[in-house]
Amino acid sequence: MSSVVTIQRGATSVVLDLELPMPAIAHIGGVIEGFDPRALGLPVARATLDAPAPIGVLTENGTGFLGRPGLVGFRPDGSAWAPIFKRVAEEVEDDRVRFELSDAVAELELVIEIEVTASETVVGSMTLTNTGASEYTVVRLSASITMPVHATELVSFTGRWCKEFQPRRHDFDALSVIENRRGRTSHDQLPAVFAGSIGFGEHHGDVWGVQLAWSGNYEIAAERLADGRRHVQCGELLSPGEVVLAPGASYRTPDVVVAASQAGITPASQRFHRHVRAQNPLVGDRKVILNTWEAVYFNHDLATLQALADAGASVGVERFVLDDGWFGSRRDDTMGLGDWWVSEEVWPDGLHPIVDHVTGLGMEFGLWVEPEMVNPDSDLYRENPHWTLTTAGYEPVLGRQQLVLDCGRADVRDYLFDRIDALLDEYAIGYLKWDMNRDLVQGSNQRSIDDPGRAGTHGHVLGVYALLDRIRVAHPGVEIESCASGGGRVDLEILRHTDRVWTSDCNDALERQTIQRGFTMLFPPEVMGAHIGPLRAHTTHRVQQLGFRTATALFGSLGIEWNLLDADEAGRAQVAAAIQLYKRLRPLLHGGDVIRFDHDDPAALVHGVISPDRTHAVMAYVQMSPSMTTVPLPMRFGGLDPDRRYRLDLIDDLQSADEFGRDRPAWMLLDSIELSGAQLMSSGLQPPVLHPESVVLIELHAV
Ligand code: GLA
Repeated sequence: MSSVVTIQRGATSVVLDLELPMPAIAHIGGVIEGFDPRALGLPVARATLDAPAPIGVLTENGTGFLGRPGLVGFRPDGSAWAPIFKRVAEEVEDDRVRFELSDAVAELELVIEIEVTASETVVGSMTLTNTGASEYTVVRLSASITMPVHATELVSFTGRWCKEFQPRRHDFDALSVIENRRGRTSHDQLPAVFAGSIGFGEHHGDVWGVQLAWSGNYEIAAERLADGRRHVQCGELLSPGEVVLAPGASYRTPDVVVAASQAGITPASQRFHRHVRAQNPLVGDRKVILNTWEAVYFNHDLATLQALADAGASVGVERFVLDDGWFGSRRDDTMGLGDWWVSEEVWPDGLHPIVDHVTGLGMEFGLWVEPEMVNPDSDLYRENPHWTLTTAGYEPVLGRQQLVLDCGRADVRDYLFDRIDALLDEYAIGYLKWDMNRDLVQGSNQRSIDDPGRAGTHGHVLGVYALLDRIRVAHPGVEIESCASGGGRVDLEILRHTDRVWTSDCNDALERQTIQRGFTMLFPPEVMGAHIGPLRAHTTHRVQQLGFRTATALFGSLGIEWNLLDADEAGRAQVAAAIQLYKRLRPLLHGGDVIRFDHDDPAALVHGVISPDRTHAVMAYVQMSPSMTTVPLPMRFGGLDPDRRYRLDLIDDLQSADEFGRDRPAWMLLDSIELSGAQLMSSGLQPPVLHPESVVLIELHAV
């Protein structure tokens, strides 16, 4: 028998090949009894090294591995740049394993930990310790997940502000590297990739989803070697000199989280969803939010905001969030960030009148903050210019007229904690919208105004996590939303320290359909802020009917980002009906399995949520643009129980007759219809003819 270790939980297992000192992932996915990696042992090809090097969890050039090394580092004299580790200890349990390795020549120790979680995700990390007498500079410490050779395609994510979470497909060929240097997770890349078999879709193909749980700079490489083997390697992207280990010091990588599936992307996504649900369990319901940003922007006026709160309460809103503009000299976005005192100019009696009004209406009060930032035009910056992540001697690069505070510094964190703590003590605040509105550039952690400092993104990110945790410990009831100009900081690690994310500044429902679809490939819907915007979307100027806007927002953590005072009676009644529907469906929407379908008509999207026991579901048929066919093509639902019959109910509380398509299929004209799961999954259901930018919602109950 070959030397292997298998860890497993439920239907997921990891087989580690221990033939050589460095453990290598031989299999990750479904349980295969007696997996023997020798079956894939390579012959020695001509004109290559005498022994093919494995793709270890840490790839080592020193052993003859000729692709990307997992560890790049060196000592001041240039030594220890190509370490070769020996395994010195291992602890194996059913579902986890811990290896200790050491390199006596390079004077380094490495600990590798891998676990299969109850969510059937695989979580791994590595910790490197400098056991030598000199400093050790770490340039890269990235883990490799071996992929089978039939994983020939990749789906990674791109986007921009107002168009986040856009999947793109490419070949798993040669070397593809995603590098993020924005100092936050970013709008245009995500630390995530799916590798899979040819043409893998939502419900077919072998798929391996990989996410790096990190909110700063990162790199993800998908590398196909000359012999055809391949791996996905990921870790933090460190700037030169950013991590230098003193003798005895350690560096731990962010967690790598893998979700595998033998039946397409959707089951892998569901594992990621369970992973988030397990790491940060939902306490109570996700409250329906009214956010003031697009309603009033910086124009804070008590009477208007009170009227807005009244309007919100009357339609069923549960949380009122006062956005930017309440503090310091912050009357627009050019000044005031950093001065976290309530503005006496705008709020002469403090926030009490609005907080009391909101809570008096039975709603919770939430507040916007952007703690990591400072405007040069602020008292905080004038007093502590060296608190910023800038580099002495250079003109700082501004973003939205602001600089980043070095949250790697304890004094900066103490200042921010004290300010936020004081606000949370003084006011009945149940929610913080924690924003982060610029990329980090030239981020050096200066100790004084003329200290050149070192690259400080790594320290900043860890400091932000620590600050968030400190606030949560001091104020355990307060929920925190992560926002970064919309979805610029959404990743598995920020979701351990916060409760919800602002998905995108774009509230245009057509854009939101694709943004939210991409989002749910990685994260569950209850953390996905989804707000009903105004008739004309502020960021695209497109006009959309209320039914489409509400049916789109329904599938996330629902809110309103619209001046409800502009809505007429009928509009408010429609919003109230949507909120009522949401509250009724909330346990299903936020506890069920999200399911996306590959639909045959490119003009439409089909998605839904099914309860874990498969007795209750809600499905959405979304007409994005006019179809090429005279009538739309049937939608086939997966994920149901083939042996059950389901009663189908049309949910038409959200659409006015005008929005809803005129040409209804036969089943919609019946009083009621019951169909088997098997039929719905094989031949499907005929949608009506719809106007573009409208949705049909169908509720299914097992009978
Ligand atoms: C960012 C956020 C918005 C809003 C503004 C306030 O752009 O994404 O939702 O909070 O900041 O300045």
